[in-house]
Amino acid sequence: MCGIVGAVSTRNIVPVLVQGLQRLEYRGYDSCGVAVHDASLEGNQGSGLHRARSTARVAELMEQVTKEHLQGATGIAHTRWATHGAPAVHNAHPHFSVGPGVGDAHAAGRVGLVHNGIIENHEALRAALQAKGYEFLSQTDTEVIAHLVDSHYNGDLFDAVQAAIKELRGAYAIAVMHKDEPHRVVGARAGSPLILGVGQNENFLASDAMALAGVTDQIVYLAEGDMVDLQIGRYWIVNQVGKTMEAGERPVKTVRAHSGAVELGPYRHYMQKEIFEQPRAIAETLEGVVSVVPELFDGADGTAAWRVFKEIDNVLILACGTSYYSGCAAKYWIEGLAGIPCNVEVASEYRYRKSVPNPRSLVVTISQSGETADTLAALRHAQGLGMTNTLTICNVATSAMVRECKLAYITRAGVEIGVASTKAFTTQLAGLFLLTLALGQAKGKITESESDHYLEQMRHLPVALQAVLALEPQVVSWAEDFARKNNALFLGRGIHYPIALEGALKLKEISYIHAEAYPAGELKHGPLALVDSEMPVVTVAPNDELLEKLKSNMQEVRARGGVLYVLADANTDIENAPGIHVIRMPEHYGALSPILHVVPLQLLSYHTALARGTDVDKPRNLAKSVTVE
Ligand code: G6P
Repeated sequence: MCGIVGAVSTRNIVPVLVQGLQRLEYRGYDSCGVAVHDASLEGNQGSGLHRARSTARVAELMEQVTKEHLQGATGIAHTRWATHGAPAVHNAHPHFSVGPGVGDAHAAGRVGLVHNGIIENHEALRAALQAKGYEFLSQTDTEVIAHLVDSHYNGDLFDAVQAAIKELRGAYAIAVMHKDEPHRVVGARAGSPLILGVGQNENFLASDAMALAGVTDQIVYLAEGDMVDLQIGRYWIVNQVGKTMEAGERPVKTVRAHSGAVELGPYRHYMQKEIFEQPRAIAETLEGVVSVVPELFDGADGTAAWRVFKEIDNVLILACGTSYYSGCAAKYWIEGLAGIPCNVEVASEYRYRKSVPNPRSLVVTISQSGETADTLAALRHAQGLGMTNTLTICNVATSAMVRECKLAYITRAGVEIGVASTKAFTTQLAGLFLLTLALGQAKGKITESESDHYLEQMRHLPVALQAVLALEPQVVSWAEDFARKNNALFLGRGIHYPIALEGALKLKEISYIHAEAYPAGELKHGPLALVDSEMPVVTVAPNDELLEKLKSNMQEVRARGGVLYVLADANTDIENAPGIHVIRMPEHYGALSPILHVVPLQLLSYHTALARGTDVDKPRNLAKSVTVE
């Protein structure tokens, strides 16, 4: 989703800004832009703010700025994921305000601004600004903020931004500059993440530390409602009640820059790389885990998990997208193995519905990024209802989710770039399985020796995953069939129903084939009407207690001419036959089977997308990190 980079320096900062955008590309975007103050370079008198914007990739923006000799030591840059207004150059950020009555799209700006988030009262503000003579050149809510800052400007950018944000309703992270203040960028955040990077005699703003990888690893995480005043070699942070923060109140943290992790290496796409990284990611998850103890889930501030685990009597999981499906799978473990009632809710639904709070719930948020707006809002909603026992399963240790939850389990997936989540999902499942064991022990439902036995099985997962990845050539032949289809059905039962859901999500996300998943028992209550020879039906069929039931469902499909694509276990009698394509999984893996069965489905969507020629890592209309509602 949208990304911000900003800088106040003494060198030409354009390459740093554009490279920062390149590192944020993984979040998903449809246009990009950069603006600089050209007076900031020594010997240059300057003529105000200048910008370059594009609806092409960031690499093309780089060519454009080189061709146009755009240079400056103070600047802001942005990748936009359209919410208000189509993806078009005139809607791309940075937005300029040129003052009332000067509707010249080419005029050098007075105020330049980039924004992540959504301004809910933009229509009312737009009308009021139009009445003052401001002309709007875009359909965005962002341009409203640029004009609003201009309307409040009285010689001090910080004061103008402070006055402007008082009028905003909604979520924002912004970076702003003014033509009369060549060595200053002002930032503010409410509801969207923003960080400050401290360099040698230069300072930066970004929506995520990765944007600054290789530039600085000295990071300050701005808190909700903070404003920051960036100047050459110094900065001030003011909190939401206007108090200037002391150094200790917003500490500078050393954040390991992970620019290396975003190299593609021998792979064609990040998604492919990330699918193949899963054995290593699971191995890293288990490294150092000698036995399953509550300490694995202790909070970032040292809060002891065992106390919380003793206190709670049910689990409420909140998440979005792929993370939601890992929660759906975990429900089967938490209820089936640990014997604790568990509900799973889509975060965007939970946050707005009237629910009955239970102070003895363990509220578990699951998130790769730790910044998903709906999941964060659902967490805060639950806290507001008095549910203070919170735990997050999250891939980013420095994220808001980890900071705001009492307890945390950090998955070791490493940076995930592909918009379609893969290794984050399997590491979430591994974390959730460990959580099940820890909760089961706390409640006396799982003995220490049973837990050790499960842990032993988990240790074998990396090898088992390698064996599943070796099935790739067979999956490729399935993908050739799927690439010619417009619809697909995915069936599963029990804990493999969420795996079917995840398989369908992967296929639609990156190959744009309409795919739906059903619990196989529901087939005859509707979806069977869709089945004919044009409808491939993927069946996740491990050799568990539900297999015989599933086989009957498969017969129902065959009887209607549907073609089955079955993921079967080694020791079953499901065989290749006309209309039945079988991939045999290397072995049956008991409770951990979902972690293996999802992998061929990831490969299926990857190879189908490849055959259809879609943009695997950056599917249309989607974003990696959804920081707006
Ligand atoms: C977006 C991503 C998905 C992800 C979902 C939740 O939709 O494209 O891959 O599953 O957000 O993100 P989170 O970071 O909270 O796991």
